[in-house]
Amino acid sequence: MGDGYPLPQGFLFGASTSAHQTEGNNLASDWWAFENRAGSPVAERSGDACDSFERWQEDMQLLRDLGFTSYRFSVEWARIEPVRGEFSQSAIAHYVRMVTHARSIGLEPVVTLHHFTHPLWFAQAGGWSAPDAIDAFERYLDAVAPVIEAGVDTVVTINEPNMLAIMQTMAAGQLPTPTAGGFNDGLPRPDQAIAERIVAGHRAAMAHLRDRHPGVRAGWSIANQCVQHVAGGEQLAHEYRETREDCFVRASRGDDFVGVQSYTRTVFGADGIVPPADDVERTGTGWEFYPAALGEALRHTAELVPGVPIIVTENGIATDDDDARIRYTTGALEGLADAMADGIDVRGYLHWSALDNYEWGHWGPRFGLIAVDRDTFVRTPKPSAQWLGEHARAGRLPSGALVA
Ligand code: BGC
Repeated sequence: MGDGYPLPQGFLFGASTSAHQTEGNNLASDWWAFENRAGSPVAERSGDACDSFERWQEDMQLLRDLGFTSYRFSVEWARIEPVRGEFSQSAIAHYVRMVTHARSIGLEPVVTLHHFTHPLWFAQAGGWSAPDAIDAFERYLDAVAPVIEAGVDTVVTINEPNMLAIMQTMAAGQLPTPTAGGFNDGLPRPDQAIAERIVAGHRAAMAHLRDRHPGVRAGWSIANQCVQHVAGGEQLAHEYRETREDCFVRASRGDDFVGVQSYTRTVFGADGIVPPADDVERTGTGWEFYPAALGEALRHTAELVPGVPIIVTENGIATDDDDARIRYTTGALEGLADAMADGIDVRGYLHWSALDNYEWGHWGPRFGLIAVDRDTFVRTPKPSAQWLGEHARAGRLPSGALVA
C-alpha cells in the first residue's frame, strides 16, 4: 500500500460508536423509556445492544489490532446522572478507565459528551426546552471533568444537533413520529426555538471546556445531507439546507473543529425532494448509494466556516454486502483525498461504525466494520475492517487522481 494520498502526522484514523447504540441496558435514559413503553412506535429495542459496557476493552483492542489510531465513543449522561443531581462515581470511573486504556494501547480517544440520549428525568422536565436545561447540561459537564482529564484531547460536545433538534421537536409533540421507513422523504423542519436552545447548549459547553480544560480541542458534529438541486429546485434546496443544517454549521465558527457526518445526498426539484431513480443503488437504510457525498459535504462545510478545521466524525454505509462497504468507502475516501489536496483542512476520518450496532429502533441496518453476534456478542472483523485498517496503518487514503 505504497500509493495513495499521504496523510499528515496526527491525522486521526479510526471508527466511531455511541453509548446507547453499543453499551446495552441504558436503563435511565429517555430512549430506553421510549423503546420500552407500552405501544412504543419503536420496532426493536436496544436491549443488551453489543454489550460494550462490558466488552469495551475487546472493542478497542480489535480496532487497534486492525491498525486504527483513534476511537470515537460517547459518554452516557443517563449513567452518570441517572437521577437529577445524583452522580454515579462508578460510571465516571468506568469512562475514565476507557480513556486511560485507549491511550495505553495507542488509540486516541475522541469523546462525545452527548449522542442523542438524555437521562429520563431531563426529558421529563421538558428536555432542551426546559428553562434550566443548559444549567443541567453544565452540571453534567462538571461531573465528567475526570473523564476528560484522564487524557482526552478531542471532545465532541453534541452529536448531530440538527437531528437532535428534530427529535426534540417530535418529543414536544410538534411533529409526528416517523414510520418504519424513517425520514427517507427528507428531514422535517425543527422548531426554531428548540434549535436555538441546542446551539446555546453547545456555546455553553464550548465556554465551559475552554475554561476548565484549556488544552482540549472541542467542537460538535453535524449531519450533512449533501443537499443538491435540479432545475427549479434552487429555492427549496436553499431553505431546506439553511434550516436543517447550515444554521448549525455556522454556529461552529470559532470552534477548534467541526465534525462532518456524511452518508448520502438529498436532491430537490421544483416540487420537493426528487427520489433516486428505481435503478439507482440504495443502501440498507434505503438511502442512495452516493459515496461522493463526503467530499461534497467537506467542501460545503469549509465554504460556510472557512478556517475551522474539520474532522470526519462519521461516514459509512448500512449493508450486508461487505464488498459494497469497501466500494462505498473507497469512493468516500477518494473524495476526502481530493478535498484535502485542494487545501481543505481535514484532521481525521472516523468511520461509522466500529460495530454492527443498534440503529435507533432497528437492528436490521448493519453499519459495522466488525460484526457482532446478537446472542453471544462474539465480534468478527469483516474484510472491510482489515482493508480500512491497512489504510490507517499505511497513513494513506485510496486516491484515483493522486498518487504520491
Ligand atoms: C448518528 C448515528 C447513526 C448514524 C447512521 C448518525 O445520524 O450519529 O447514531 O447510527 O448516523 O444512521
